[in-house]
Formats: sequence, structure tokens, C-alpha cells
Amino acid sequence: MKTQILLPEQTKEAATLIRKGGLVVFPTETVYGLGASAFNPTACARIYSAKGRPSDNPLIVHVASEEQLNAVVSSVPPKARSLIEAFWPGPLSLILPRSSDLPDIVTAGLPTVAVRWPRHAQALQFLLETGVAIAAPSANVSGAPSPTTFEMAKGAMLGRVDGILMGDDADEGLESTIVGFVGEEARIFRPGSITAEDLSRVLGVSADSLTYVPSAEGRPLSPGLKYAHYKPAAEVRLYRTVGALGEVAEAGEKVGVLVLGSADLPCPASWTVIRFDDLKAYAKGLYSSFFELDRVGCTEIWAPLPESVGLGTALANRLLKAAGGKLPE
Ligand code: TXA
Ligand code: MG
Repeated sequence: MKTQILLPEQTKEAATLIRKGGLVVFPTETVYGLGASAFNPTACARIYSAKGRPSDNPLIVHVASEEQLNAVVSSVPPKARSLIEAFWPGPLSLILPRSSDLPDIVTAGLPTVAVRWPRHAQALQFLLETGVAIAAPSANVSGAPSPTTFEMAKGAMLGRVDGILMGDDADEGLESTIVGFVGEEARIFRPGSITAEDLSRVLGVSADSLTYVPSAEGRPLSPGLKYAHYKPAAEVRLYRTVGALGEVAEAGEKVGVLVLGSADLPCPASWTVIRFDDLKAYAKGLYSSFFELDRVGCTEIWAPLPESVGLGTALANRLLKAAGGKLPE
């Protein structure tokens, strides 16, 4: 398939492609999305094949107005409304009761729909010009890290979509926080840069009470949780302190290492080092550093596992999946 590369200001051309039933990759503040009209089931089916995504893993619907929101949900419960007022537009997806007009393929047959109102200026312009909600998972091939730069998005989706809208590097760098409701109680289905602490202040509950524990029986509330995710080609290994790196230097491997802060490293000078000043920079640069280290041919990437508090929770979640669940030794 021929993929049109659209300049940042060509949001109208991108909107036209969507209205004609096309697929368009576009930037958001979290990661690049792979979008189609949420009301065009044929176009939404193409999202699954472009990504190689299992069909039981539903999509996130993006909106940029109350009207677009009301077209995809059947109601907005009061707790969801408080979160909307506090965090939209922004990196929060809410699981809400779906509208019966929404094609089943968007929600993978669930009675709920994930909705997000992004704050990214180009994404908003694109949504308003399209005039309809846009279903968009992250623009990676299933299982790989989400693209956070135009280069990564192009690398993943060239030839698989009708258009790619050029944009800047994603500000947040991790996918949105997903909040759903179990009964009336809010639960975090996927941690993100809006933290449990942020949500707890608005909801007036403790941050710990927002932890979601999947039930062993029945259909999972968030199907995406069970799939492999965020894996670069290199093997990801986690460490807690840079001291541990001194013992792991392996001969013959081309190794990349991510480092938080300015600590001296006890590893060979041949290792490729990418440093981050703080957790925010680590989140923003995590996936693009995986991309870069794959590009230079590293077969192993050592990454620090932060404590699961604040933004560290989302980072630890993605890092553990990238490492196949293997904790530091
Ligand atoms: O930041 C983001 O959320 C990005 C950008 C493009 O907005 N999108 C994104 O989409 O990360 P995706 O498809 O990679 O992740 C969507 C997640 C999946 O884990 C899916 O299972 C979950 O949302 N999800 C979607 N609809 C759901 C629903 N009705 N109930 C529970 N989980 C749902
Ligand atoms: Mg994804």
C-alpha cells in the first residue's frame, strides 16, 4: 500500500483520508496512534490487520468535543465526570458504557468503550476536522514498543496505512492511564503518567484502593492485559542499582544500558549508554531508546527498574512487560 507522508500542517488532508475510510497514523501527547473512523467497521477491521492485533483486544476512541464523546458513550457516571473535569484533555482513557451505535469491532464486543480526549494540538485539530471520533490503538506492530517519534511511527507503519501525519516527539512517552469502574469504584487498568496519587486526590480515596486485581474467572475486564507488550528486538534485562552492572558485563554481546541520573558506571566502555535526568525524562525516552539501541544492533538492553510509586509505577509496568516479567536478580 502507498503511504502518504503528511506535513504537520496537513491535518485537513489527514481528516479527508479518515472520512474516506482510510487509516492515518497521528501524533498525540502519549504515543503515536493508528486511527480510523470509529463509526466505520471496515476501516476499524483494517487497524487490527495493520497491527497484527488479536481481535479480542479493543481500541481506544479519541474525541475532541462533548458531541463526539456523547456519540460514543451511553452515559457518563458521576465519578467519570469528575475525572474528565480534572484530567481532560490529557493522557487519561476512561472505560465507559458504550453507545449501541458504535460498531462491535471497536470494543471487541464489550459493553464498554475506552475513550480519551487528548491535549495534543495537532491531534485535536485532526479530530475536529474529521468531525467524527477516531478509534486508535498505539501505532506499533502488536507486541512491540509504541512509537513516540515520527521516525518510529514511520518505521512501524510505512506501507500498512494510507497516511502518516508528521509530528513532534511525544511529550509523555508512555500510553495513557486507563481507568475503568468495577461496580461504581474506579480502578486503574493500565498505569500511566496520570498517577494513582493524582487520581486519588480527585476521587477522595486512597491511591492503593485504585489497584486493579484481575479476576481469575470470566472474561477479563481489560483484554489487553494478557498480551506480550512493549518488547524491542534486543532482550531487556532489569537492574536496581548501577553497582549490579559490574557483574553482568558479558563478552561478545553488544549491550545497551539506560541510566537514571549521573552515577559512574562499572561497565565496559564499549556499552552504549543512554542517560535520563529523572523519571519524567525516562518515561519520555524509554521507547525511543529501545528503538535506537535496536537500530545500532544491541542484543541486550539493561534498564533500571524504578520503585512503583508515582510515575515509577507506569515505568515499572512497561519495563517488566518488556523484560518478559523477569525481575532484577
Ligand atoms: O495513550 C494511549 O492510550 C494510546 C494513544 C494512541 O491514545 N493508545 C493506546 O492504545 O495505547 P492501545 O490499543 O495500545 O491500548 C488500548 C488498551 C488495551 O490494553 C485494551 O485492552 C484497553 O485499552 N481497552 C480498550 N477498550 C477497553 C474496554 N472497553 N475495557 C477495558 N479495556 C479496554
Ligand atoms: Mg498498544
